[in-house]
Amino acid sequence: MEGSGDNEKFWSGRFEQPPHELFEQLNASISFDWRLAPYDLQGSIAHARMLKDIGVLTSEEFSEIENGLGQIMAELAQGEFELMLADEDIHSAIEKRLIAIMGDGAKKLHTARSRNDQVATDLALFVQDHIRQHLADITGLLESLLTQARAHEATILPGYTHLQRAQPVLLAHHFLAYFEMFSRDYVRFWRALDAAKVMPLGAGALAGVNYPIKREDTAAELGFERPGANSIDDVSNRDFALDYLAAASTLCIHLSRLATELILWSSAEFGFVEIADAFTSGSSIMPQKKNADACELIRARAAKVAANQQGLTTLMIGLPLAYNKDMQEDKIYVFDTTDTLLLTLPVMAEMIATLSVKKERMLAAASESFALATDVADYLVGKGLPFREAHKIVGGLVRSCIDGKKGLSDLSLEELQRAAPEFDESCFEAIDIEAAVVRKDSYGGTSPRQVATQLAGAERRLEGFQQTVNELE
Ligand code: ARG
Repeated sequence: MEGSGDNEKFWSGRFEQPPHELFEQLNASISFDWRLAPYDLQGSIAHARMLKDIGVLTSEEFSEIENGLGQIMAELAQGEFELMLADEDIHSAIEKRLIAIMGDGAKKLHTARSRNDQVATDLALFVQDHIRQHLADITGLLESLLTQARAHEATILPGYTHLQRAQPVLLAHHFLAYFEMFSRDYVRFWRALDAAKVMPLGAGALAGVNYPIKREDTAAELGFERPGANSIDDVSNRDFALDYLAAASTLCIHLSRLATELILWSSAEFGFVEIADAFTSGSSIMPQKKNADACELIRARAAKVAANQQGLTTLMIGLPLAYNKDMQEDKIYVFDTTDTLLLTLPVMAEMIATLSVKKERMLAAASESFALATDVADYLVGKGLPFREAHKIVGGLVRSCIDGKKGLSDLSLEELQRAAPEFDESCFEAIDIEAAVVRKDSYGGTSPRQVATQLAGAERRLEGFQQTVNELE
């Protein structure tokens, strides 16, 4: 970024000396807050229109300002807007450019406004805008998960606890668990959107302004629900950004867990899935390698997003009211988070959509494990044994199977009866994997019947989300 340029600050009147070159670097936020430009322009147009309505600007002055801001918008879109360190921040840069375009008439724009309410407004608009995109992207991911779930209503795999094979479950059930997680993320972002809909503009520096401004009008024009009720809070509030980062951070936990499962499942050790070539990469030395890099990077970015949440939380702790320059750096955490989600959500959605599942391998893993031990214990409970006793008997059977390198279903009726005389012919159904899945028919469980209910519910929820997303656009 240019170090030179018009070094005159809007606030220079009070000062005898120009800023130190190093302070200028420390003080400037334009290297990152240029991203607020479209929102700043939008905000300025609404503000100017309101100033015209209350007689601070004539209609001609307003038109000139509106055209000038329109020209800056076009310059920005064409990459012709030059950013200079000396401009300090995007708000000053835009105002300076407006003065360069239209002369002194532009100098009335900052009436009844401060950069404090201006920047908070810009950031709230930025957050709103990107939450809308995240909601659409989460919906896309939910759709991929639901499609995979529908395709695997009959696919059985071992469910895990402690990463040890635990009990057989339907793959649809497993995908739907992620559906639940990302549905909650949708709701969390929706709430964060609500929090960002209170407009700081019109708070001035902190105390309100000396003009009969119409905050309802600017709020309506900018798509806010209402102006903030307390000007001191308006300029010092960053809760909406914290809510946004909190929602993002929880979402990234979910993405990272899914990413890890894909990494594990696509390894030769599991062999449950194959990730599409398009989301993997090879090794420069080992020709056979196909690495789940996209998943690893989604996991790594989750760490960054969690750090961003922590970063802004720490930045805000202990700040006195109202605005403090510390808050200028809030954007760094927000922007990095936004960029991450704009990439990781669609990547995950597409990776899930193109995932191929190796059903036989999953079924074999579920069958060769002792995943039915609980079912055998429950069978003995059905024969009148207390569960604790049944648990112990089956534990003993598992131990002897391990010693004899067998599965529970390889045991003969005689062997079983030696462990517990309650066993009879009907026990072999307990050791049948599909029957075991069908039996898990408690609400929310893995039985095909329960999973079908979950699928129907998920479909309805997704339709609702999609409809809302379309209405937001
Ligand atoms: N660049 C500043 C920020 O992002 C704008 C507000 C500056 N206000 C001030 N009084 N210096 O926070």
